[in-house]
Amino acid sequence: MTALDTTDWRFEPNSDLFENRTILVTGAGDGIGATLARTIAQLGGNVVLLGRTRQKLETVFDWIEANTETQAVIVPCDLAELNLDSVNALSDAIADTYGHLDGLVHNASILGPRLPIAHYPHDAWLKVMQVNVNAPFMLTQGLFHLLDKAPEASVVYVSSSVGREGRAYWGAYSASKFALEGLSQILADETEQAGKIHVYSVNPGATRTAMRASAYPNEDPQTVPEPTAHMDLFTYLLGGLKHGEPLPETGSQLDARTWRKA
Ligand SMILES: NC(=O)c1ccc[n+]([C@@H]2O[C@H](COP(=O)([O-])OP(=O)(O)OC[C@H]3O[C@@H](n4cnc5c(N)ncnc54)[C@H](OP(=O)(O)O)[C@@H]3O)[C@@H](O)[C@H]2O)c1
Repeated sequence: MTALDTTDWRFEPNSDLFENRTILVTGAGDGIGATLARTIAQLGGNVVLLGRTRQKLETVFDWIEANTETQAVIVPCDLAELNLDSVNALSDAIADTYGHLDGLVHNASILGPRLPIAHYPHDAWLKVMQVNVNAPFMLTQGLFHLLDKAPEASVVYVSSSVGREGRAYWGAYSASKFALEGLSQILADETEQAGKIHVYSVNPGATRTAMRASAYPNEDPQTVPEPTAHMDLFTYLLGGLKHGEPLPETGSQLDARTWRKA
């Protein structure tokens, strides 16, 4: 198995942190999601790799097969087309293969056009909302019973700084991240009393990915951190109570650059 380099991590997980745990990551074929999927597998977890492009998912799957002993599965799925039938089929497949779900990371999203609201195209607005908000809602709802079956589970919504403070020209992307923050807080409030499901939103901040390059084409990518820089926070949150460290309060909004252990 490939050893994980945790030299700069603020949280040091045991190498079996995710053993016997199954975590679904959306947008697992590229960027932060692909790095997270590999990291979870390196720490012993089974990953459900959901994403749009089959070939990218296969590359991550092959890496996991070659470097870990965990059992990953690929779910090619365009979240723009997600509906009740596809969510139910996914839920049945996870139930058959793994029985329950220990973690759900809503990471996939699209940027949409960078335009003022006065000129924002309606079709683009609806598509961004579908991928970035409606799909996470449908997945949360349709997979909730599998999370509830786990001894404990974590749900992480990947947000953005423009989901916490609106900024000109970020249009539907910004509004969708505000909605995602709301979804996260509602779910946290609804599950807090039972105490089994921990819910968080994470703002990764500037990260060296295709999305960042598309939003900031003139930026030198070497000046922003790679997705690996955020894996300590994601594994800390997804590890739940198993790692023995206190967790942030459910419903917390975290920032990958500045977080501290609870
Ligand atoms: N990078 C940053 O600086 C930054 C900053 C703040 C927040 N974030 C957030 O971090 C998360 C990950 O972003 P990233 O930078 O890693 O982006 P990325 O490199 O563009 O990766 C996004 C992933 O989401 C998938 N995806 C997009 N649309 C999809 C759809 N309709 N159905 C299924 N999968 C879809 C993509 O699949 P394909 O590759 O197949 O298209 C890709 O694997 C996003 O929620 C983003 O908003 C990123």
